[in-house]
Amino acid sequence: MNIFSIKQLLTGTHLLQEVVISGWVKTYRSNRFIALNDGSTIDNIQCVVDFEKFDESLLKQITTGAAIKVSGTLVESQGKGQNVEIQVANLVVHGGADPETYPIQPKKHSLEFLREKAHLRIRTNTFSAVMRVRSALSFAIHQYFQQNGFYYVNTPIITGSDAEGAGEMFRVTTLDDKNPPLTKDGEVDYSKDFFGKETNLTVSGQLEAETFAMGLGKVYTFGPTFRAENSNTSRHLSEFWMIEPEMAFYDLDANMDLAEDFIKSIISYVLKNCGKDLSFLEKRLLEEEKSKPQAERSGMPLMEKLRFVVDNNFKRVSYTEAIEILRDSKPNKKKKFQYTIEEWGADLQSEHERFLVEKHFKCPVILFDYPAKIKAFYMRLNEDGKTVRAMDILFPGIGEIVGGSQREERLEVLRDKIKALDIDEKELWWYLDLRKFGTAVHSGFGLGFERLVLFATGMGNIRDVIPFPRTPQNAEF
Ligand code: 4AD
Ligand code: MG
Repeated sequence: MNIFSIKQLLTGTHLLQEVVISGWVKTYRSNRFIALNDGSTIDNIQCVVDFEKFDESLLKQITTGAAIKVSGTLVESQGKGQNVEIQVANLVVHGGADPETYPIQPKKHSLEFLREKAHLRIRTNTFSAVMRVRSALSFAIHQYFQQNGFYYVNTPIITGSDAEGAGEMFRVTTLDDKNPPLTKDGEVDYSKDFFGKETNLTVSGQLEAETFAMGLGKVYTFGPTFRAENSNTSRHLSEFWMIEPEMAFYDLDANMDLAEDFIKSIISYVLKNCGKDLSFLEKRLLEEEKSKPQAERSGMPLMEKLRFVVDNNFKRVSYTEAIEILRDSKPNKKKKFQYTIEEWGADLQSEHERFLVEKHFKCPVILFDYPAKIKAFYMRLNEDGKTVRAMDILFPGIGEIVGGSQREERLEVLRDKIKALDIDEKELWWYLDLRKFGTAVHSGFGLGFERLVLFATGMGNIRDVIPFPRTPQNAEF
């Protein structure tokens, strides 16, 4: 007898065959109908039990959450709601789930409640749908790069450099924190640490990816990154996954073209391949929105929103133009957005970004040429001496989804910047070597994977699109 997945059986091609299937019970009603799910698809398969043929003690164990194996004939269903069902001949309980203590009962649970049950929430429709979309997006990302001449590179997790220069790093140390060795000046002596120097978890694989781009041409990373920033928002995690392509001989325009094409291609992949999950998530979102005031509703249904991104050009706007738009926009206390920004040079807050994307342009926006002062040291200085070839991609409902730039390839300019920012040049000797030997124009960007999954699934909180979220004060699982 073949072992099938529910996804395979529901295609109906195995009609009238003897099949065997294992899964977790969603519901068992009227002592006759088991709705079984195995995670392969959002749909359950109905298993019809003739209770007179089975021991009562066995049937008692068929409760929500129990893992069971059924075998029987796949037949056309007489009932509503499904095309096929299994007429159960044999039934085995792999493991029961006590209804008194199993937390995922067949009723609506809040997302907050489920976060506390992160080890079991994958058995709910919402999380299984989100995680299948997440998996499909991962595949689409690799496929896009592999088909477009990029090589996949694994950059280190433990590193001695602060790629973003923002000082938001988790230190990696083997020193005894209660009694660390001290230098003459009374500072912790990291030269006695495991690696003989201070090390931390990576905030970005970019600098190392640059070394590979300057030999392999086009590369990408897809790995975990860590930020010790104390941001308790629905868009920030302490541990998140980032995709970082890096391309030799690409300038900022080519970088923007690639980023836009890449995002459209992976969204279009999930539209093609995750229809069932997306339509479940779309319905879920519509339900959730009904309870919100009109002004807070996202407007377009999920799949329409995804199609809109695929079918329309992203709007490209310089930082300076954006500031003008923000200055000209009249603040209105009744509106959700408070977006006055007075000064050229100020960093945009998320409400500014959301105003530009959601109210002004009403489409994804690529902002470029930011003031040098608010961006990282490695970005290429423009001829005006005060802006850098940076770009951020802003998405409706999300804000910044991508951050990237053309890199400073001129040794002296880079040196000056490093000096001005008080970064120890010795730490970056290998990075500077790239500018000494065969330097060239190059560019890249970082896409926050969870922010992409948020957008693609219409979920509202980043904690609900990663299996085990790491946020300040939360690393239970
Ligand atoms: O803008 P960021 O900090 O850029 C970099 O790290 C560059 N080194 C990328 C590059 O050019 N190779 O981060 C890139 C993206 C952001 O746009 C955002 O989507 C995501 O990473 N991100 C976060 N996602 C979740 N939680 C956080 N705390 C995040 N910080 C950044
Ligand atoms: Mg950024």
